[in-house]
Amino acid sequence: MPQLARRMSRAKPSAIMAVAEKAKRLKSEGRDIISFSIGVPNFLPGDHVYAAAREALDKDSGQYGSNRGPDALLDAFIAHMDAIGLAGYGRANCSTGVGAKHVIYNLAEALLDEGDVIAFPAPYWTTYLDIADIVNAKAVTLPCPASQDYKLTSAQLDEALATHKPKVFLFNNPSNPTGMVYTREEIVALADVLVKYPDTWIIADDIYNRMLFDGLEYVNFVQVRPELRDRVIFIDSLSKTYGMPGWRVGFMAGPESVAKAVTTMNSNHITNLPEVVCAAAIAALSGPQDVPTQKNAEFQAKRDQVMAVMDAIPGVVCPRPQGAFYVFPDISSAFGKSHNGVQIENDVDFCNVLLEAKGVACVPGSAFGEPRALRISYTCPTPQLAPGLARIQEFFAELV
Ligand SMILES: Cc1ncc(COP(=O)(O)O)c(C=O)c1O
Repeated sequence: MPQLARRMSRAKPSAIMAVAEKAKRLKSEGRDIISFSIGVPNFLPGDHVYAAAREALDKDSGQYGSNRGPDALLDAFIAHMDAIGLAGYGRANCSTGVGAKHVIYNLAEALLDEGDVIAFPAPYWTTYLDIADIVNAKAVTLPCPASQDYKLTSAQLDEALATHKPKVFLFNNPSNPTGMVYTREEIVALADVLVKYPDTWIIADDIYNRMLFDGLEYVNFVQVRPELRDRVIFIDSLSKTYGMPGWRVGFMAGPESVAKAVTTMNSNHITNLPEVVCAAAIAALSGPQDVPTQKNAEFQAKRDQVMAVMDAIPGVVCPRPQGAFYVFPDISSAFGKSHNGVQIENDVDFCNVLLEAKGVACVPGSAFGEPRALRISYTCPTPQLAPGLARIQEFFAELV
């Protein structure tokens, strides 16, 4: 039988989806399951988004579209960037993709040759490592444990850039899986290091840029050190902010050469985003912002609810998130204990036993490069949140 390409030995299905699938299976078997696993916002965009999609269907050209994205979509994205403090980008600086995941994949193909180094902080979004593996880049992860609030320090960055000379530094703020947000001072300190290493591209995966709590402002490297503009590639997406993960719309803005490379990849992979999807995306970006604003306020309240429980569990160390919709407690104090006679040695055991015993699905931290923790994605329907958290608290209390 013919063989698959060697790269497929490096390609893995998503570890997060595996937990979600198991939770779904148990539910279909009649179990009472509360899922804190998959990172979906669990709300729908406003009516104006659907109205725009319907109108586009009525006027459908049926033709191929632009590889970069239609001008109206690029303009709506540029206006969105202006609104979050990233001014001065034109259409030639931008491109689109089938979600931010696709844009990041295209960037990996466009920026990394086999064996090139890509560096990123851990905990990290699982897909970074998976994509690095597929393109056969060398991933260097920079450990940022709970004791440093899961944030990269400027000293760590400096050392990593000097030692590993990465072709790409990939940064994610606000963070999936930790929900942590860098302050302006922290961004300035990191940017001051980045200016010293002109041979490194910087991908700023900031897709949660509007999902900030406690009145925090969004800050990007380009805002604080404009001289980084010709190396920073900003990533955005409609998936989380607008409740549109299934619509698959992602963006990038950066140097023209990079936007052109991503557009060339599109011309070979997807040709274009569908017309109806683009119309919905334009409406989401340009229309009323009350749905995302209201949902963000709800997420902040849910963050408070989750943190009240995390803070009350002895042995759990949980830096307080200020964005996105994740909490990432360090649960390593449970390792070596048992629940109803079942031994828990690591995060995967913990999540499995928790799911079996209490019907609560969380993702083991090892999926994000931090095996002492687990991820709680708290976007479930509000009535499920308190019982799910109570079950986790009860589970901890029953450990011996
Ligand atoms: C940090 C981060 N970047 C990118 C993505 C991908 O988003 P999209 O749905 O636009 O592909 C996700 C999705 O979970 C994410 O958490």
